[in-house]
Amino acid sequence: MAVQISPSILSADFACLGEEIARVPDADWIHVDVMDYQFVPNLTLGLPVVESLLQATRIPLDCHLMIADPDRWAPTYAEAGAGSVTFHAEAAKAPVRLARTLRQIGARAGLGINPTTPIGPYAELLPDLDMVLLMTVEPGFAGQPFLDMVLPKIRQTRELVQRSGCDVWIQVDGGVSEKTIERCAEAGADVFVAGSAVFGAEDPDRMVRTLREMAAAAADS
Ligand code: DX5
Ligand code: ZN
Repeated sequence: MAVQISPSILSADFACLGEEIARVPDADWIHVDVMDYQFVPNLTLGLPVVESLLQATRIPLDCHLMIADPDRWAPTYAEAGAGSVTFHAEAAKAPVRLARTLRQIGARAGLGINPTTPIGPYAELLPDLDMVLLMTVEPGFAGQPFLDMVLPKIRQTRELVQRSGCDVWIQVDGGVSEKTIERCAEAGADVFVAGSAVFGAEDPDRMVRTLREMAAAAADS
């Protein structure tokens, strides 16, 4: 289980995203939060910006779609070249079909789960997934406090993944920082999204390395 860090550009300066991404060369992924004013009460960016970002960096894009009707729109992000595309369980009408479509196009398929959505009903979907994204805040905004109530679900998801025998990554997203990352790693997460913790730091790339070291040490303990 290798620890990976995915800085979220939601906390970066949207006027110069290319330069902001260049500040985190050690990132494993760049987390791109797509919001549509429907699934969440916020609006960010869409496919044209993702296409430009793909030209601006060699770090793979981890697109987190907080949108209504992902069945219709998620494949377009995979077709554009996103390395990973995560759609939400609460929004997808046909999650099995959508996950298979994303993989067929060549992207990793991720399933997003809100803080109060149980993982149990999605256990059968694990063979069709590459990642489960567990929200550790309500989706919509950066800078919210981490929700400890999600920790048991991280453990439960790790158990389900182990039992399935599938190589599915467990990503946590929301409020992940030096204060909370160890708790997430101990519970079984291996991919860590951090927005304000990374782009709010004086040296964002050093923060990426610090978070990775902290998570790796906690996962080993
Ligand atoms: C929130 C987004 C997160 C957000 C995380 O809905 O999905 O990716 O950018 O930001 P922090 O790390 O500041 O909570
Ligand atoms: Zn996100």
